[in-house]
Amino acid sequence: MSDFADYGGFSPLEYLRAFYSEIDSESEGLLQFLVSVFDSAPHAPLVLEFGSGPVLISAIPAARRARAIHYCDFVPANREYLTRWLAGEDAEFDWSPYIARCLELEGKVVSEKAIRQRAHNIRDLVRRVVSCNIFDPLPIRTRYQYEVIISNYCLDAVTTSKQEWQLFTRRLAKLLKPGGTLVLSSLRKTEFFEFGTSRYANVVLDVDDLANAFTQAGFDPQSIRVESTHCEQDYCNKQGVIFAAASLPLVVGNNPWHEDNGQSSATVSRELLSTGASPWIDLTTTSHTRA
Ligand SMILES: C[S@@+](CC[C@H](N)C(=O)[O-])C[C@H]1O[C@@H](n2cnc3c(N)ncnc32)[C@H](O)[C@@H]1O
Repeated sequence: MSDFADYGGFSPLEYLRAFYSEIDSESEGLLQFLVSVFDSAPHAPLVLEFGSGPVLISAIPAARRARAIHYCDFVPANREYLTRWLAGEDAEFDWSPYIARCLELEGKVVSEKAIRQRAHNIRDLVRRVVSCNIFDPLPIRTRYQYEVIISNYCLDAVTTSKQEWQLFTRRLAKLLKPGGTLVLSSLRKTEFFEFGTSRYANVVLDVDDLANAFTQAGFDPQSIRVESTHCEQDYCNKQGVIFAAASLPLVVGNNPWHEDNGQSSATVSRELLSTGASPWIDLTTTSHTRA
């Protein structure tokens, strides 16, 4: 990792302008994939967006079905950006085109009013913006288990080791309820990505790696869905992106809760509650921490 940038100097606005200034084929693919995931998601799921950066794309389709959405990221500046947007200070970046496209994909009428309403719903539903660290066996301090976890271009963007990336996938699986769904977006066959003057590491993955990681993490093989798309932008050496989703079996005994540290997430949650410890650490804001 030492030849690559760490995330200390990560600039939210620079990142958004580099990768999200228009809806390219990758963002379009992600929106389509997420809309289809929420078409078949359980009723009113609790959703976690893991390693969100300053990006609100996941919340747009999630807000159609979720009862609440939690966001987390490693970099304080990203959490601050999200908090500002959620507080209504959204002049720096306009998510309206993404909302409009999502509404279209959902078969809804696209109007100024409908766009404003979805933005309002997102602000209402995103209840927490907290820190996370996938290098920690318990990547977020939470008493919740989630029905849906979405993590886009995060687990692959913090390591060059496939083994470590597989471990990260298992860690997110541990935060899911039995039957819960994990959605992972990854760059395809990519050793790095860059923006500004920084080059960030990326583990080299292909479609089979996603399917294998889900299987190893205890997901129901029948539920695994992997799609890939080609690359339009010329900012790295990638061959496209991969969208993948899978669900855990409903039977608790089949999921891999004891792999990392011998402690199930249910046990951890109980311990946090019994010691009276706060279920959350390092909150960036108190204005988005409703239950
Ligand atoms: C390539 S960006 C992806 C951002 C966003 N999810 C997206 O779809 O564009 C990688 C993200 O991983 C986050 N990250 C870096 N180190 C991390 C860590 N140790 N644990 C969790 N996330 C981390 C960064 O803050 C950044 O937001």
